[in-house]
Amino acid sequence: MTISKQMRRYLDSGSLIRKLFEEGAAMRADGTNRPVYDFSLGNPSLAPPQQFDDALGRYVQNDARSLHGYMANAGLTETREAVARSLKNDHGLSFDASHVLMTVGAAGAVNVALKTLLNPGDEVLVCKPYFVEYEFYAENHGGKLITVPATRDFNLDIDAFAAAITPRTRVVIITNPNNPTGVMYPQETLNALGDVLRSKSAQLGQPIYLLDDAPYRKLVYDVPRCTSSFSAYEHTLMATSHSKDLSLPGERIGFLALSPKMTDCKMVAAGCAIASRILGFVNAPALMQYVAAALQDVTIDLDWYRRRRDRLFTSLTSYGYEMPHPDGAFYLFVKAPGGDDFKFVEGLKRRRVLTVPGSGFGTPGYFRIAYCVSDSIVEESLSYFKEAMDEVYRNSV
Ligand SMILES: Cc1ncc(COP(=O)(O)O)c(C=O)c1O
Repeated sequence: MTISKQMRRYLDSGSLIRKLFEEGAAMRADGTNRPVYDFSLGNPSLAPPQQFDDALGRYVQNDARSLHGYMANAGLTETREAVARSLKNDHGLSFDASHVLMTVGAAGAVNVALKTLLNPGDEVLVCKPYFVEYEFYAENHGGKLITVPATRDFNLDIDAFAAAITPRTRVVIITNPNNPTGVMYPQETLNALGDVLRSKSAQLGQPIYLLDDAPYRKLVYDVPRCTSSFSAYEHTLMATSHSKDLSLPGERIGFLALSPKMTDCKMVAAGCAIASRILGFVNAPALMQYVAAALQDVTIDLDWYRRRRDRLFTSLTSYGYEMPHPDGAFYLFVKAPGGDDFKFVEGLKRRRVLTVPGSGFGTPGYFRIAYCVSDSIVEESLSYFKEAMDEVYRNSV
């Protein structure tokens, strides 16, 4: 045995998304030169905004300071101040640099938060369907992920959350807007969740923390800004990044923000800084922190995504597909015609259309489309989506 039992188990169970990634690569290299309509990964094909290139150029060419050194684990003060100003503007709370820790993407932020908050055996609740990496992240820090089914329209089921809370519950994770459904939770729902967490925390005699994993928070298409978990509940931490809102997933730049209303905020912030160090991140990428300071008011072209969402939603529903109307992120979570998500995804794959079975998000019977792809991929795939639906319909009559 060369590697740990846990890692062996992870390797054996495999990741559906990773498998699709490999199948997509094999399809592209099959020598036929036929296009592959790859909707499987949340890896934006949209380039970062011009302001990113400008800021990067300015720093690399003109700045005489050392851009590449170690720094405080929490990150550069000027960047944390810029983030705090933007959070204050969005949520109306008195954020300052002490409430912000720069991280290695949103994934780094979630891991730093869980490392700081969990004791061995603590439970982490999450609404199902969910971003499957949370299972690993909870286990990384001795926690246990407990899933709570969403309502029929993929909203948070507040009663189900209340019923799932036990004396071991330490953290509730929400993803707003959601991956894989694209649903943004209404403010009333977040407020109701806040009320439940407040009263359960009082009963338990210690806070249950709300961890809002929000890398898509700036990608909302029908309202000016995403609903706010910070206004709903005082013991909130938000994990986010510029992977999606600036199209920089490979640069690994994100941050963790703590509510200024959190009673033990100072201690949690200090714990997070140590967590960042001892997890081996040390600090978030330095150059990207300088650049991020200049880009807190910049977002990629939302119309680019809105057009794709509208085109796919309107076309697919006209073919008979059913899905919640996505308010944000860049995903559609579609009911699999015929009911078997693996079978339906296979049918699409035969047409060189790659999507992810809902089972990969703990929710069989659905499949996910990531529409962060080019116009031509969307347009050319539509007839194949129609064909796959027609095939199921033909086979059922
Ligand atoms: C819900 C969710 N959380 C976290 C991440 C990881 O984000 P990052 O690349 O910024 O670490 C993703 C990436 O797709 C995501 O969808």
